[in-house]
Amino acid sequence: MRSFERKNIKAMEGYTPGEQPEAQSVIKLNTNENPYPASQSVADVLKSLDIASLRRYPSPTARKFREVAAELHRVEPENIIATNGGDELLRLLLTTFVEVGESIGVADPSYSLYPVLAAIHDCSVKRVPLTSGWELPDDFAEKMNAFGVKLTFIVNPHAPSGKLIQAEELAGIAQNFDGILVIDEAYVDFVDPEKNYNAIELIKRFDNVIILRTLSKGYSLAGLRFGYGIASTNLIEPMQGKTKDSYNMDAISQQLGIASLRDQTAAKLTWKAVRDERSRMVLEFNRLGLTSLPSQANFLLVEIPDGVAGGAEALYQIFKNEKILVRFFNEQRLKNRLRITVGTPEENGALLRVLKIAMNIQV
Ligand SMILES: Cc1ncc(COP(=O)(O)O)c(C=O)c1O
Repeated sequence: MRSFERKNIKAMEGYTPGEQPEAQSVIKLNTNENPYPASQSVADVLKSLDIASLRRYPSPTARKFREVAAELHRVEPENIIATNGGDELLRLLLTTFVEVGESIGVADPSYSLYPVLAAIHDCSVKRVPLTSGWELPDDFAEKMNAFGVKLTFIVNPHAPSGKLIQAEELAGIAQNFDGILVIDEAYVDFVDPEKNYNAIELIKRFDNVIILRTLSKGYSLAGLRFGYGIASTNLIEPMQGKTKDSYNMDAISQQLGIASLRDQTAAKLTWKAVRDERSRMVLEFNRLGLTSLPSQANFLLVEIPDGVAGGAEALYQIFKNEKILVRFFNEQRLKNRLRITVGTPEENGALLRVLKIAMNIQV
């Protein structure tokens, strides 16, 4: 058969998503989903859906959702765009603001979808390595300027380390960087409130900052595919009015998205439960002699020395044989680590039991 792919598409590798087994019995600690279900108010809206309402097209701009999100974040609805998962926002950012042939910047390592989106758009990726302490180098913005990148991504809290960068450091980068700074806050809901982290204000100070949010993690709706962007109108309007699909958010998603953002109380309970378990797991790992980077996300990047259960990849396989999925990345800085999503106390307990057996510790 002939190939009709564009040259860059033919040359590229697709994104490899984490394993998504169909069996419910598998303990899934590999794709950073929230271990608790979405709130009862979301379930109620879903149950009361009127099939006849689906006859009509939905709001093309997710108008009501934008109002609700704007109120929550103390911005205007014009500062919000709703997208089919955060991933759609990332794609829109490239197709709207980056010329084919230009380059984008990433802190390395980070979310492995960024280079894939760049390859689809036929633009190159400039990588600035994180320091040995998994931090951004002080001259991050200057380095990106020297590369001439049009747009750069920073995940905060960082994935896969979980490290949090304070908003003022981000402000410094926004100030010094000549292109668009995407602050990917996919995991921000799990940040300890005591950190007083809030980067939303940056969109009022800088016209080159856009913040990504998603309902996939904090609001337990990864299956729904709902994300949004927060930025000044020079960034929102071109995507909202020109480059997104005309009806990118279906009617059901819009209703569930609204219900989920409105029920902050229920979502916050899950964030607290995840934070509590995160702290407990850090202690449990430490007790076993294992260390993880300080995480403000719903996962821990745990170092697995080669002497422990044969190393990270072998341990990943041991967990898998016991129907527990975690994430192993076969990459330079990550191959001696496992990224483990924080689950329910029962799920985490099961993981610890298997770990202790693998380490020959009596359980
Ligand atoms: C760093 C980061 N950004 C964005 C996303 C996008 O999430 P979604 O498309 O489910 O909203 C993810 C999902 O895993 C992620 O890890």
